[in-house]
Amino acid sequence: MKANDKQLIYTLLKTVDAYECGYTRAKFAGEPLFTDDTVVECERSERIETTVATSNNGSSPVVSIQPSAYSTTGQASADANMSQNSGISLDELNAKVLRCTRCGLARTRNNVVPGMGVEHPDVLVIGEGPGHDEDMQGLPFVGKAGVLLDRMLAAIGLDRKTNCYIANIVKCRPPENRNPFPDEQAACFSFLEAQIHILKPKIILCMGKIAIEKLMNQNIAITQAHGEFFDYNGIPVMPTYHPSALLRNEELKRPAWEDLKKFKRRLDEIKTN
Ligand code: URA
Repeated sequence: MKANDKQLIYTLLKTVDAYECGYTRAKFAGEPLFTDDTVVECERSERIETTVATSNNGSSPVVSIQPSAYSTTGQASADANMSQNSGISLDELNAKVLRCTRCGLARTRNNVVPGMGVEHPDVLVIGEGPGHDEDMQGLPFVGKAGVLLDRMLAAIGLDRKTNCYIANIVKCRPPENRNPFPDEQAACFSFLEAQIHILKPKIILCMGKIAIEKLMNQNIAITQAHGEFFDYNGIPVMPTYHPSALLRNEELKRPAWEDLKKFKRRLDEIKTN
């Protein structure tokens, strides 16, 4: 492939990605140097046989490619010139979130709930999605679970007014407080990615299974993983029980408290280093 064609594809992908995310992600921030492929001539009779898929009945369709030539790509140093500019403020991003109609939740919401807190937080708290009270007020964690969350945070010196930011996996209320569907989470996730990119929290606290599973992009049993540390692009992440779970089951309060103490120790370590 010619360098010009690669440049065109790169620019197209970058534009689409920036449109979706609302900002230029770091991986697209630099301009890689594209080079023409080195073309290695093959014998005209040479056939390359490639297994492309294995169907459910076990048969493996084989695609035959009969090239007059095949290419080996010289490694362009795609990461070479990356910069860290994101080019969008939190207010601009959240304004975009407020206008979002990417999924069906836009039709049933009363208010979008982008998030709230300080712009350079020590801690980002991630919940699942707005409930009734949040949907009515446009603010995260303001119902019963929110009152408990604020008390949990206060117990370890955290407060959304001074050192935290609170956001959710989905920014609009799922009807009847059901779990957000995977496609709704997927539609909304780039907003959270952008929020993390802009906020640059020192550490992240995930409230419940949905938050940690979506952030880490893996299946996670909260009963096993609560209080453990994960890594999100270099940021330590701890899942703990969702405050709603604590309201339903008092017995989870003790382990959640142990998690919070561990979380606080890690935050203190980060701040002193
Ligand atoms: N539960 C959540 O996960 N998020 C909120 O904002 C409120 C309740």
